[in-house]
Amino acid sequence: MQALVYQGSGRMARAERPTPVVRDATDAIVRVTKTTICGTDLHILAGHVPSCEPGRVLGHEGTGVVETVGPGVTLFAPGDRVLISCITSCGRCPPCRKGMYSHCLTGGWILGNRIDGTQAEQVHVPHADTSLYRLPDGTDEEPFVMLSDILPTGFECGVLNGRVTPGGTVAIVGSGPIGLAALLTAQFYAPAEVVMIDRDAHRLEVARSLGATTAVNSGDGGTVAQVLALTAGRGVDTAIEAVGIPATFNLCEDLVAAGGTIANIGVHGSKVDLHLERLWSHNVTITTRLVDTVSLPMLMEAVHNRRVDPRPLITHRFALAEIVAAYATFRDAANTKALKVILTT
Ligand SMILES: NC(=O)c1ccc[n+]([C@@H]2O[C@H](COP(=O)([O-])OP(=O)(O)OC[C@H]3O[C@@H](n4cnc5c(N)ncnc54)[C@H](O)[C@@H]3O)[C@@H](O)[C@H]2O)c1
Ligand SMILES: [Zn+2]
Ligand SMILES: [Zn+2]
Repeated sequence: MQALVYQGSGRMARAERPTPVVRDATDAIVRVTKTTICGTDLHILAGHVPSCEPGRVLGHEGTGVVETVGPGVTLFAPGDRVLISCITSCGRCPPCRKGMYSHCLTGGWILGNRIDGTQAEQVHVPHADTSLYRLPDGTDEEPFVMLSDILPTGFECGVLNGRVTPGGTVAIVGSGPIGLAALLTAQFYAPAEVVMIDRDAHRLEVARSLGATTAVNSGDGGTVAQVLALTAGRGVDTAIEAVGIPATFNLCEDLVAAGGTIANIGVHGSKVDLHLERLWSHNVTITTRLVDTVSLPMLMEAVHNRRVDPRPLITHRFALAEIVAAYATFRDAANTKALKVILTT
């Protein structure tokens, strides 16, 4: 089968790989129909993810059709249309029993990292019963591809951890796919203000069209003063970090109101200062999380019933055979205006 293979720092290539087979009783083999590229795949290519070794098929998002199942799979059968979660979970180990699937002792974020992933014609999915989700009959798959990772990430790590409330104030730093997913799902709770902050004018434009009440270009300076002015000098109840660099976490520390929450989503590759000399008396909560995808069933219902629509996040479409060009488009987002690309097999 055709697959996109990581070849070590900075390198990847389309390659012919053996078709995956069932190894454990609880495995499924899924024929991938749609997949996408994540910012995390670019982190891997940059050599920031040592657990992902050369030779690995990349990709941790997608939809497909079940091709084969092991004898221990009870919920799925060949021919079933499924969504593949970016998090594999056994459902039985102590972290899974706490709903913390991201730390499953035999799963977690392994697809396209520790085991071969979804940017291929077929993918091997361990713990299939608890890692696949049945797609509603007759629906367009594309919006559901946004549920493998980005919508649950924005919702769980940003909105739920950030305790967004009706009438509350929210600032989201980073208007990439993840920040925009947090913006879409924050609106379940009817906050009074959602301020989106980025340096990319086009992404801020998209944020406005998706419900941001204010968009602030942090490249222009004066970001903290602008947000404080919107909140009568208090700061925001929820500050969501959706970039993953020290400057944006520090910005959240400056934006959060007394009693508020900083919800970190960004993957940080370097040390970040925590300004307790100022925040110690502010009654703030700081949260971190690797997405668990526990909210997936709920978000699937919300997408199916059009209570949230992630389709505006899809900007480009390619055939799987064009995946190298798709990576180039995704990587050059400043010029191509790419958010999420869909690859069809
Ligand atoms: N916690 C998790 O489970 C989890 C899951 C998926 C992704 N992530 C992480 O979430 C983060 C966001 O992902 P994404 O795919 O949206 O990334 P992205 O790179 O597409 O978006 C980041 C945005 O931040 C903006 N930005 C960069 N520097 C800035 C600055 N100084 N001030 C303001 N804006 C700035 C960029 O213009 C861009 O729009 C990444 O760090 C990613 O690795 C975390
Ligand atoms: Zn991802
Ligand atoms: Zn587990």
